[in-house]
Amino acid sequence: MAGRDSSKPQSRGTGRALILLSLLAVVAFFAAVSEDGSEGVAGRPLVELGRRLFYDRRLSRSGLVACATCHDPHLAYTDGRRQSRGEAGMVTANAPTLANVGNRKLLLFAGSRSSLESHARVALLNRGEMGGLTPQWVEDRVWSIRGYRVLFEAAFPTESGAIRLDTIARAIAAFERTIRTHDSDFDLFVEGRGHLSPSARRGLALFRGQAGCARCHSGHDFTDDKFHFTGSTLVGDGPRNEVFPGRIGVTGDPRDWGRVRTPTLREVARTPPYFHDGSLPTLAAVLSFYESGGAQQAGVEIHPISLTPKQRTDLIAFLTSLSGRSWVDPPPPSLPE
Ligand code: HEC
Ligand code: HEC
Repeated sequence: MAGRDSSKPQSRGTGRALILLSLLAVVAFFAAVSEDGSEGVAGRPLVELGRRLFYDRRLSRSGLVACATCHDPHLAYTDGRRQSRGEAGMVTANAPTLANVGNRKLLLFAGSRSSLESHARVALLNRGEMGGLTPQWVEDRVWSIRGYRVLFEAAFPTESGAIRLDTIARAIAAFERTIRTHDSDFDLFVEGRGHLSPSARRGLALFRGQAGCARCHSGHDFTDDKFHFTGSTLVGDGPRNEVFPGRIGVTGDPRDWGRVRTPTLREVARTPPYFHDGSLPTLAAVLSFYESGGAQQAGVEIHPISLTPKQRTDLIAFLTSLSGRSWVDPPPPSLPE
């Protein structure tokens, strides 16, 4: 360290300052560990651990798949595929963005998970995702990487750094809560700090008015967090090409047949293809779907709308204004050895 060289009083000062700074950092480091581990604030040991686990392919059975494989930050935490491929090349569904996922009340298209923690536990074990299959396998794998033991001690000091499926999932969930998008053209416009193009403003008016989109795509993240039957579950022509039962799979209520949770539209221009099965390749294709009134089946909750070419352009301009600016490509973390 520079301060060791006594012939340079200036660098001694620097050395003291460095020591003070590192002491402060250590204090902040421990003070920052949240009580229940639920709060996601970047820089906390829990979040930094979770970030590494999220990117680490060694957590999958094949060593080839990480959460970030299907939720790639470069694509707003999606994978650009119609349907994701995980362990054993298994096809699942279209990977949704994780933008502002901490705001969601229920997770997945059918709303089958109610917390990021419980979802992460399942994703780690799931044959089609990380393929860990048993908690023991996942725990042993993490334990075998020495660097993780240190990180778990920092993140879970009151639990003696225990490496369990539960603590692994809690760390990943804490990181997921930091995946936030907030400074899109739309946000800056609403906060009076920026400008929205005339086309996007007309699109916004259409979205809220005549086109009726805000009926379901409402609130801060453009989702009501409820389940709707748009007929989307009947038009799928993805590789599985089968009807997705949706919410009924969770509730057993016949009224929930084919209903899926309204997705957020934040970052939507960056996350094609669309719908639960990735069957619609572009935003223009999504608009055509709505213009035709979905699958026009009994019980479908949307009505055909008619849009001029200019209105289509305007709606797409508005949807594109929901892409955050500082939604950057975060560099992948260095993984522990
Ligand atoms: C093989 C690709 C794949 C991998 C690997 C994967 N996911 Fe996903 N993820 C998906 C798909 C597909 C969905 C949508 C499934 C559904 O809704 O039925 C999804 C859904 C989610 C959701 C719900 C988002 C929402 O808005 O409801 C979260 C959260 C999530 N994944 C986090 C993770 C985490 C954390 C990991 C790692 C432990 C992970 N995923 C690994 C493909 C993947
Ligand atoms: C009745 C509720 C409802 C209305 C009205 C509605 N949507 Fe949707 N929207 C949904 C649901 C539910 C999905 C998910 C469908 C699926 O995944 O199968 C969806 C999906 C989407 C998607 C794809 C998002 C993604 O990430 O896959 C876009 C884009 C979209 N809607 C835009 C619109 C626009 C634009 C309008 C107005 C013309 C509109 N929606 C009207 C409920 C609605």
